[in-house]
Amino acid sequence: MTDHTLTPGDGDATRPPTAAGRAVARLAIPEPVLEGLEAHGLPVSGTLDAVEIKLSTQVTSSHAFVDELARYLIDAGGKRFRPLLVALTGHLGPDAPTAERTNEALVDAATIVELVHLATLYHDDVIDEAAARRGTPSANSRWDNTVAILTCDYLFARASELSADLGVEVTRIMARTLARLCEGQIAEVQGSDGALPPDVPRLEPTLEHYLRAVSGKTASLIEPSCRYGALLSGVDAGGVEAAAAYGWNVGMAFQLSDDILDIASDHEDSGKTPGTDLREGVRTLPVLYALSSDRSGELQRLLDGALDDTELARALELLRGSDALERAREHAGTYVAAAVTALEVFGDAPVVTALTRLAEYAVDRVG
Ligand code: IPE
Ligand code: IPE
Ligand code: MG
Ligand code: MG
Repeated sequence: MTDHTLTPGDGDATRPPTAAGRAVARLAIPEPVLEGLEAHGLPVSGTLDAVEIKLSTQVTSSHAFVDELARYLIDAGGKRFRPLLVALTGHLGPDAPTAERTNEALVDAATIVELVHLATLYHDDVIDEAAARRGTPSANSRWDNTVAILTCDYLFARASELSADLGVEVTRIMARTLARLCEGQIAEVQGSDGALPPDVPRLEPTLEHYLRAVSGKTASLIEPSCRYGALLSGVDAGGVEAAAAYGWNVGMAFQLSDDILDIASDHEDSGKTPGTDLREGVRTLPVLYALSSDRSGELQRLLDGALDDTELARALELLRGSDALERAREHAGTYVAAAVTALEVFGDAPVVTALTRLAEYAVDRVG
C-alpha cells in the first residue's frame, strides 16, 4: 500500500484516542490514510482532533439528558468523512494549515458539517424506522421518535450558533444546504412504496427521481464540505466552484455506494441493518436496475407488499444474485470519474492525489 492510499475493506479499523481523550473508534476512516496524508505534508489529524474537541464542547448542555442525547451518536463513532473532506480541501488554498499554523475557520466549518450530518442521522432513522446506527441502537429505538427528533433540532441549533461566528456567507451556504436536504428527503418519501397518507402527492420512482433525491439528501451536504475547505483556505472563486463540483460528485457516489451496501453488506461492516431501504419501500438504484431485468416478476411481487423477514431475505437474495449491484457500482464510478475531472484545475499537487483516493474510497468502502 502506498502511504496515502485509502484502504477499502478496513471498515472497523480504529483511530487512536483524540486530544479530547475519546477514541473515535468503530467504522472510522482507516488510520493509514491519515498517516499517509501527514507524510505528504497534508496535516489533517490536527484539524480532525480539534474537530472532536469542538464537537464535544459545542453540544454541551446544562440539561443533563439533552447532553446525553446529543453525545450519543458522536460517541458511537462514525467515519467523520465530511470533516475529513473539509480538512483536505482546506489544503487547496494559500491559507492551508501547516505544522506551525492552524486554521480555526476550517475546524469550525468541519464541526458544522459533522453536526448537521449528525442531526440528519437522528432524523433519518426516525423516517426510515431504522433500528441501528453506527453499530449501536438508533436513538429512536433506544428512546423514541420524539426524543430523536428533538435531538436533531438541538444539533441544528448548535451548528447554527457556530456558523454565525464564521459570517454570512458560510451561514447562507448551510441554510441553503438544509433546504436541499429536506427537499431530497421529502422527494424520497413521495417516491416510496410505504403507506403514504392519501393526500401526499406521489412521485414515480424513476431513475431521474432517485438521482434527484440523492442529490438533495446527501450530495447537498458533501458539496459544501468541499466548498468550505476551498473558501476558507483562500482559493479563488473558480477554484471554489471546482471543489464544490468535486464534492457534489463524491456525494452522489457516496450515496449510491450506501444504497449498494444496504443490500450487499452486513451489520458488522455498516453498523446499520441491511435491507432497511427495502423494508421502507425506497427504490434505490440497485432495486431499479434489478426490477428492469426481473423477467419472472418475483422481485416486483415481493416489493409490491410489506415485506416480512422471510420475504426480505428472499428479496435480498434475488438482488445479490442479479447484475444490479454491479450496474450500480458502474454508475457510481461515473461520479467518481467526474469528481476527479473537476480537480484538474488544481494540477497534480499531493492534495489532489489524496482527494482522488478519497473519491475512490467513497465507492470502494464496505462501511
Ligand atoms: C450515512 O453517512 C448517511 C448517508 C448520507 C449515506 P455516513 O456513512 O458518512 O455515516 P457515518 O458518519 O460514518 O456514521
Ligand atoms: C441518508 O439517507 C441521507 C441522510 C441521512 C440525510 P439513507 O437513509 O439512505 O442513509 P442510511 O443508510 O440510513 O445511513
Ligand atoms: Mg436511513
Ligand atoms: Mg433515509
